[in-house]
Amino acid sequence: MLDALVAELDLEQKVRLLTGGTFWGTHAEPAVGLRSMLMSDGPSGVRGEHWDERDPSLNLPSASAMAATWDVAFAERYGAVLAAQARAKGVHAVLGPTINLHRSPLGGRHFECFSEDPLLSGALAVGFVRGVQRYGVAAVPKHFVANESETDRYTADVRADERTLREVYLAPFEMAVRDGGAWAVMSAYNSVNGATMSENDLLRDPLSAEWGLAGPVVSDWTAVHSTEASALAGQDLVMPGPDGPWGAALVEAVRAGRVPEAVIDEKVRRILWLAAKVGALGEEIVAPTTPPPDDGFAREAAAAGMVLVRNQGELPWPSAGPRSIAVIGQAAEVARTQGGGSARVVPLAVVPPLHGLREALPEAEIRYEGGAVITDGPLPLPPHALTNPVTGEPGVRARFLDTDGNEVSAEDRISTDLLWFGGGPAEATTLELSTRYRPETTGRTHIGVASVGRSTVFVDDAVALEADLTDPDAILGAGLFAPPSTSAPVHLTADRPVLLRVVHDLTSRAGGRTSSVSLSFGLEVRADDEDAEIARAAEAARTAEVAVVVVGTTARVESEGVDRTSLALPGRQDELVRAVAAANPRTVVVVNAGAPVLMPWRDEVAAILLAWFPGQDFGHALADVLLGVAEPGGRLPTTWPAAEADVPVLSTRPVDGALDYAEGVHVGHRGWLRAGREPAYPFGHGLGYTTWRFDDLVVPESVDAGAALPVTVRVTNTGARPGRQVVQVYLSRPETEIDRPVRWLAGFAVVGAEAGETIEVNVEVGARALAHWDGAWRYEPGAFLVHAGASSADLPLTGKVEAK
Ligand code: BGC
Repeated sequence: MLDALVAELDLEQKVRLLTGGTFWGTHAEPAVGLRSMLMSDGPSGVRGEHWDERDPSLNLPSASAMAATWDVAFAERYGAVLAAQARAKGVHAVLGPTINLHRSPLGGRHFECFSEDPLLSGALAVGFVRGVQRYGVAAVPKHFVANESETDRYTADVRADERTLREVYLAPFEMAVRDGGAWAVMSAYNSVNGATMSENDLLRDPLSAEWGLAGPVVSDWTAVHSTEASALAGQDLVMPGPDGPWGAALVEAVRAGRVPEAVIDEKVRRILWLAAKVGALGEEIVAPTTPPPDDGFAREAAAAGMVLVRNQGELPWPSAGPRSIAVIGQAAEVARTQGGGSARVVPLAVVPPLHGLREALPEAEIRYEGGAVITDGPLPLPPHALTNPVTGEPGVRARFLDTDGNEVSAEDRISTDLLWFGGGPAEATTLELSTRYRPETTGRTHIGVASVGRSTVFVDDAVALEADLTDPDAILGAGLFAPPSTSAPVHLTADRPVLLRVVHDLTSRAGGRTSSVSLSFGLEVRADDEDAEIARAAEAARTAEVAVVVVGTTARVESEGVDRTSLALPGRQDELVRAVAAANPRTVVVVNAGAPVLMPWRDEVAAILLAWFPGQDFGHALADVLLGVAEPGGRLPTTWPAAEADVPVLSTRPVDGALDYAEGVHVGHRGWLRAGREPAYPFGHGLGYTTWRFDDLVVPESVDAGAALPVTVRVTNTGARPGRQVVQVYLSRPETEIDRPVRWLAGFAVVGAEAGETIEVNVEVGARALAHWDGAWRYEPGAFLVHAGASSADLPLTGKVEAK
């Protein structure tokens, strides 16, 4: 039937469908009943067509947080909630999950990826994809393949041997396509072994030929630069549109016989196939099922992913809570719910830790101290203090002007942190924001602006700040998502409104004018006396029953477009923790970061809870966990190092354009084991609120090549509370001809048990865990050891199986 539709279209009509119609949508073709399909980032929420606070989205925990659940069924629920969001916003395809691996903890999009382990990443991807697609929305796993870091992201050439690609980096995509049944896949910006991914042979084989991807390979945004090479390679859809390197040039290439028309037909067929799946082809179909509502899911999800890595008997608090708490840290008030980049969504409201704790413990005496400022650009101004000078309503007037100063378009916005992602008028040359701001305090403060290019900030028509900021990657990279900022001192008086106006020269940006621009302004938090701030925080801790310090990174430190340069917490947060811990032995540290950070004070505090980028309901979830209403159910999806020098794979900087994955299959915990180094906390670690015993590992005596290996273990909850455990099974080979990891994750299962309860847990080890790639999947006969326990470093049980 699809072939018949393809046959109805002429070459121009067909080629037109192969480039986006807009920044986020595909072309419609009424001649065959094809409607436009809308795609949207996330994937920790669904932003929809506009990056706009007036059309907010549910902001769920980022991928590393979700992965910490190790729970495939939970990933499926997560996907279903995204499907509900997508359907509400008219979105047909969610651009995710991001299933590149945590190769180096410096990777800027680490927070957006699941894990360092291919099996864990792939299993969660399967759940996610199934959850989204069950409700008629496509998932688009990305970025295929080997897009593990951001440095030189458009050009870096990843050098990896076939075995490494197959066993490590392709593996999660294989699972997402074969087991999850993903309807589309996004190709990456980078090259692999000399060919950029939109022209790479891997698109045809294994992605389509071997794994059977039936839908289109969607390009990453602006990734396609060639006509024939990409068209011939199996790239199907060029995004964004409407312009691109295909169009007329591809029509010409077909006419000249350089690209067979059958190649075009196949691409059109894949797009029509996807359209049929998402209800964009033929009669409008009413989806057979309705996705579940998201009631309370953001809160539950945030708690489910929190990982308790250290607990000296401090947590959980009794349900009445402590009488007095010193809540410390800038992130306790300015919650970092997500990382930076295209993954960002605009939530309606965010619950910071401080608010969550105050709400949960109204009787407690809670004192807040910032302690250490992370100077990180201007913070948006609170909407209730802003008046739009044109409408008189709360908010900001945004105007796009042409060279003659004529208004091209105008918007009434609420936020002062604005980003037009493909939505700004390309013909405008100036962007002007204005608002009447009523300060809440009197004194000297800093007014700041963040954007690439020239901006002038006026306070009551006097120039307060002139900025000219540069970033080479202004188009779709750090310059857009984590733009440079500057600030200048101003004196403001409480309740005396001032007119703030920011005039931004759109022509001054590297890369010139595009329809994507980010501009934010507001006040920059600065410490006048940093030592005094830390001392005040320590004093607050000394006089309180317990201290909660929230430390972390920010969406600028962890962002698409840029890798981190250090694993240390920014600013003076380490000193802050040490000072607080010295003042109060009952110090709980909450780490609000999407990727590992160094915690040199980790043995000096009572408890450490990793909260990741937990999404919009951070504060409520944190209160639930501290008070034991919810168990911190998470286990580390990635190894947390104690020191940078120990990390087996750290650098993300290509050398002469090439990024050599020289470590081969020894990634993540496998690399740590091979190097014989101790991390701060190993892969798979997490304490929860109860204790466990593992007994009776049962494995068959032998396993046939290509067969799965059934494993059973008995686990007993030996503590006094119900709890959740992740039973982990690893394999090793005492004797082998192959360069294998010391041991590797082979299977896992989530169990819940009441206090005192014993459960027999079945963990299926898939055949693939026993295979290695050598031109094909092969099985080396001989003995495998089977290890079971609670983390990659805590494996009390060992069995043996003979592979035939
Ligand atoms: C990112 C993708 C994203 C796309 C559209 C790209 O820069 O790499 O992950 O889906 O932009 O926003």
